Amino acid sequence: MLKIQDFNKLIVANWKLNGSFSFTKEYMDQIRFKTIKNQKNCLIICPPVPYISEFKSSNLLTGGQDCSRYINGAYTGEISTKMLKDMGCQICIVGHSERREFFNDSNEIIHEKLNNCIEDKIIPIFCIGENLNQRKEGRAKQVIKDQLMASLPKDYSDENIILAYEPLWAIGSGLIPKIDEISEIHSYIKEEVLNNQNIKILYGGSVKAENYKKIIDLKEVDGLLIGGASIQIAEFKKILEF
Ligand code: PGA
Repeated sequence: MLKIQDFNKLIVANWKLNGSFSFTKEYMDQIRFKTIKNQKNCLIICPPVPYISEFKSSNLLTGGQDCSRYINGAYTGEISTKMLKDMGCQICIVGHSERREFFNDSNEIIHEKLNNCIEDKIIPIFCIGENLNQRKEGRAKQVIKDQLMASLPKDYSDENIILAYEPLWAIGSGLIPKIDEISEIHSYIKEEVLNNQNIKILYGGSVKAENYKKIIDLKEVDGLLIGGASIQIAEFKKILEF
């Protein structure tokens, strides 16, 4: 299992429903990261499932964008955590707001998926975050706490789970919270919700070359979950220079 505590910062690329075999090849040719060698920072690519095994010939780590709540059986179209493991995945994004919104992933389903990941030694990146109304009403912290409490697996630890704070209104919108708002929410999760456990928390939502540095330099931020900018190769390379 990936030893996440060995890393200082983690960068996770979420391709979402984008890519092709030729794009995957170009990506592997262009994106270089000395992640394993210096053991300081870590880069993980989450392409759509058909492209994951292509990365075996590179030194890039891979992850899934989602997994099944089921282990096996008559569930057409599903991909289990065991299958992700078989393909060489180290992590899996779970509870992304797009899964919650378009595929009805409830807190209960997310809880089951997180359990499956932990059972199969895949590190889940558990996504949480408030929508714009909840933020305007001053309920962001409560919403995040409720999401965490409703889905965190019983046996989670700072070695087997990563969190990602992704305010919904920031995803794909070009908007990001103020820098001190990001550190405030991350500190709140670490100190008040998780009682100072050393759980890694990534930030996600409209991270780009022009804004990533201020975010990743925050001591409360353990890395970035990047969507749109991760599939623009030139843009993404700039981010990987940090
Ligand atoms: P974005 O997506 O970087 O395109 O805003 C982030 C995410 O959805 O994980």
